[in-house]
Amino acid sequence: MMVCEYKPGLEGIPAAESSISFVDGQKGLLEYRGIRIEELAQKSTFLETAYLLIWGELPTKDELSAFEEEVNMHRRIKYRIRDMMKSFPESGHPMDALQASAAALGLFYSRRDLHNPAYIRDAVVRLLATIPTMVAAFQLMRKGNDPVRPHDELDYAGNFLYMLNEKIPDPLAAHVFDVCLILHAEHTMNASTFSARVTASTLTDPYAVVASAVGTLGGPLHGGANEEVIQMLEDIDSVENVRPYIEDCIQRKAKIMGFGHRVYKVKDPRATILQNLAEKLFTKFGHDKYFDIAQEMERVVEEKLSHKGIYPNVDFYSGLVYRKMGIPTDLFTPIFAIARVAGWLAHWKEQLAENRIFRPTQVYNGRHEASYIPIEKR
Ligand code: CMC
Repeated sequence: MMVCEYKPGLEGIPAAESSISFVDGQKGLLEYRGIRIEELAQKSTFLETAYLLIWGELPTKDELSAFEEEVNMHRRIKYRIRDMMKSFPESGHPMDALQASAAALGLFYSRRDLHNPAYIRDAVVRLLATIPTMVAAFQLMRKGNDPVRPHDELDYAGNFLYMLNEKIPDPLAAHVFDVCLILHAEHTMNASTFSARVTASTLTDPYAVVASAVGTLGGPLHGGANEEVIQMLEDIDSVENVRPYIEDCIQRKAKIMGFGHRVYKVKDPRATILQNLAEKLFTKFGHDKYFDIAQEMERVVEEKLSHKGIYPNVDFYSGLVYRKMGIPTDLFTPIFAIARVAGWLAHWKEQLAENRIFRPTQVYNGRHEASYIPIEKR
């Protein structure tokens, strides 16, 4: 058997063959099914992009309206799920609430025929439709309010903001939010997608696949970074404090949140799109000093760390955009999950098509021939 060199974090080791998305980290290029992210952000919608990712082609007009209609029809959550969520502690993190709720969906629609296209379609629709409802429901219930019913006349992004804020959103805010979902929908073999594929490879149900991916997304080195970016901007508090803050991080070898990426060694193309969207939002809804702090951070980090390929990643500007929309910081990662469900489901489907259970090896570096010491002698 061939012995491979162990690489911490499996850096550079392919975990699957995939035709879903492509990143060129040197050129700052991201494509979904061959289409550049800039073009999708400008011309597509989140649900159309989800369809593209999951079924591999852009839908026709009829296919898209049928898909949108199905998703709209399945937005409501079962009252038992809602009642279960009501019993979650208000102080719990919304990512944990989402992980538990996504797993609970599996109790209702579990392990059917994974090779039946109708089951796959049903699971895709249900997960895309209900994850935003569950995120919004937990937010309202932890404030002591009843969840809001989905609004049939609003599109995917508009409806989520409506369920969250209990009012029809401004069209620019809804559009920007939809673009944010497109930007976060998929990103090759990142930690949560790997987790989704490993779980999928056991032929468990798609609700378990999504629940495991949600759990993986929650950490601060992955989806949780945008929460930490806001905390960092608040700590820095003024443009003058930016340079000393960054110099201190570099001296302590501390990671600056929202910067750096395993794959991108130039600015993440999604960060550029988000920066432009943030500018539009701030022009319409008022100036924000944290945007100025962020821009200064980008300048100083470029000056000090560009030789290491450290530039803003997707999380750097997304938090600022969500913050301007009045979204609480601890919902940023659940929102990332709402978008990434599209990518996870695409990988679930792709994994099933050529499945072999994941069973990597390890490099054992422990003891051998050790003796069992009776407890009284330890
Ligand atoms: N600030 C300062 N230095 C950094 C940073 C950073 N954010 N990221 C990497 N470096 C330095 C690091 O200190 C190391 O320097 P040296 O070679 O001198 O020791 C070098 O760059 C390589 O770092 P690494 O930790 O080996 O890189 P990695 O590929 O393992 O980590 C990362 C990638 C995203 C985990 C890391 O850049 C990081 O922790 N960034 C901050 C957290 C963050 O913004 N995460 C969101 C990632 S994008 C969205 C997502 O995938 O969910």
